[in-house]
Amino acid sequence: MSPAIGATFTDDSGRAEGGDLVTEKEVIVIFVLGGPGSGKGTQCGHIVQHFGFTHLSAGDLLRAEINSGSENGTMIQNMIKEGKIVPSEVTVKLLQRAMKESGNHKFLIDGFPRNEENRAAFEEVTKIVPEFILFFDCAEEEMERRLLSRNEGRVDDNIETIRKRFKVFLESSMKVVEYYESKGKVHKVDAGKPISDVFDAVKQIFSPFGEVN
Ligand code: ADP
Ligand code: C5P
Ligand code: MG
Repeated sequence: MSPAIGATFTDDSGRAEGGDLVTEKEVIVIFVLGGPGSGKGTQCGHIVQHFGFTHLSAGDLLRAEINSGSENGTMIQNMIKEGKIVPSEVTVKLLQRAMKESGNHKFLIDGFPRNEENRAAFEEVTKIVPEFILFFDCAEEEMERRLLSRNEGRVDDNIETIRKRFKVFLESSMKVVEYYESKGKVHKVDAGKPISDVFDAVKQIFSPFGEVN
């Protein structure tokens, strides 16, 4: 049996439990939050290149689950079309599996937790406490412009669903940001600037990890 994701991971030798050859590494999780279109995925791509994290986008994992023909596919598809948040049980399982499969111990978890239920479920199941929260702050008009020109063929990048997503973001997701703000864990970045300027600010925040590239 592979170990549950808890505070540590074992190495990929397969000698997961009990063996004295196991190298335990501390699991580092950073939650990347921000409104739809604030640039989470774009910036995570750059962080991966420079700092050696594994990027796990909850939205991407849910879309992959739809495409895999899973029994939850139709439910997930309907929720995404409506901009609603998929039950945490589903999303946490996908994240846990992806973390185990990655072989890495440093993760950027993008677009999660989206509400208090997401946050509590992840904490309960994994016992992982995030290192910090990277929060991309961007005006709605700018996010709307970006989403309408994203052109990835997403069922939720239309003005009707975008408005619903903004509402969910303000009503549910910001509560999570506020929760972590009260714990002094939020690094807020002005995400309304050009991509390279945003990354300059992100780089400063990640500098304690040391650049790998
Ligand atoms: P999110 O993952 O937060 O929804 P994305 O990273 O997918 O956002 O970005 C949404 C769209 O905006 C993409 O087409 C991306 O290329 C573009 N984009 C991302 N960051 C910026 C930026 N700082 N300025 C202008 N366009 C951006
Ligand atoms: O982050 P992204 O924009 O890719 O998310 C797209 C959609 O996926 C969300 O609007 C929501 O319907 C679903 N989602 C979710 N729970 C998450 C992340 C995304 O239900 N934690
Ligand atoms: Mg994204």
